[in-house]
Amino acid sequence: QYYSLAVIPGDGVGPEVMKEALNILHVIEELHGGMKFDSQTFDWNCDYYVKHGNMMPANGLEILQDFDAILFGAVGSPLVPDHISVWELILPIRRRFEQYVNMRPIKLLHGLESPLRNKGHDDLDFVVIRENTEGEYTNMGGRLYQGLPYEMALQNNVFTRFGTERIIQYAYDYAEHHRRKNVTAATKSNAMNFTMTFWDEIVKEVSGKYPDIHTNLYHVDALAAYFVTSPERFDVVVASNLFGDILSDLGGAIVGGLGIGPSGNINPEKKYPSMFEPVHGSAPDIAGKGIANPIAQIWSVAMMLDHLGFKEAYDLILDSIEKVLIDGVFRTPDLGGDASTRELGNAIANTLKKT
Ligand code: NAI
Ligand code: MG
Repeated sequence: QYYSLAVIPGDGVGPEVMKEALNILHVIEELHGGMKFDSQTFDWNCDYYVKHGNMMPANGLEILQDFDAILFGAVGSPLVPDHISVWELILPIRRRFEQYVNMRPIKLLHGLESPLRNKGHDDLDFVVIRENTEGEYTNMGGRLYQGLPYEMALQNNVFTRFGTERIIQYAYDYAEHHRRKNVTAATKSNAMNFTMTFWDEIVKEVSGKYPDIHTNLYHVDALAAYFVTSPERFDVVVASNLFGDILSDLGGAIVGGLGIGPSGNINPEKKYPSMFEPVHGSAPDIAGKGIANPIAQIWSVAMMLDHLGFKEAYDLILDSIEKVLIDGVFRTPDLGGDASTRELGNAIANTLKKT
């Protein structure tokens, strides 16, 4: 079976880690036999912006629409303001392709230590599911009376029934499919008396359909504290755009650093392509040195394969990453070693070939 894959390596370390991730994909193709990826690479990044004045061509979204999946590296460069590089490329893709689920696995890999490990939390494995299209990030609002004493800025929040139901529904479906016992929803209805009380009502409606799954509704401030004091209690965490953004970064931090964590921007209906990318950015401070950790990008490939129906491939890749980490010989500097991107990538590829 053939799959078409759009590859956008981006800037900085993006292309460096992408090379290793595509190498892993080739190994999987060889192991699997029946599965082939036809990939096409797009040079849409900050250099492209400097040349053309846009992050992607005017028909960029039309071009991407026909692919089965998008693999993204990272964008960002000192030459271009971040709100342009990140938002003129990533945000239009997320919105146009209805990638309303942002999925972040918060899993402590074997061979790694959590900064919390000394407290006995060594079995962390949950997911943060963030609403990715509305909520607090709406680009609606305004600035008034600039420079005057009564100057003000407004930013509207938008919670639609359609958008809220579908993300909460997705979280419960995910929990049921993956035999997870509880769903934790982040709220703040004590202070946000319109949007978050609405959110709470929908959580109650949807949870009523899943009597076997336990529901926790926590205020996001308390929830953030639990991420640090008792993270082992979580299975599936569902949150609005802003709350999910913050919680997923906090989650990443308790399982070991930016070079590791992957994410999926998912259109569950598969009407449009979904996009998989590491959580980290273009890391300009280490770009060009060949020492970026490729694990986040490789794990993103694994998530893509899982999304396309190849759960076994996901498991094989994760096992290989963990074996290499336990082995401990090849580690990039962020993990305390002196291996290069290439060496760590190769070690994972070679381990995968032996399975
Ligand atoms: P960053 O994630 O690029 O870097 C933060 C720190 O983590 C740096 O010290 C970096 O060296 C380290 N790091 C990141 N990835 C690593 C890897 N694979 N291996 C080892 N160390 C790694 O975040 P920062 O510095 O805030 O942003 C840099 C640029 O990236 C900015 O232009 C920003 O807008 C952009 N960015 C892009 C994102 C995207 O494309 N989705 C996401 C986050 C930031
Ligand atoms: Mg974030």
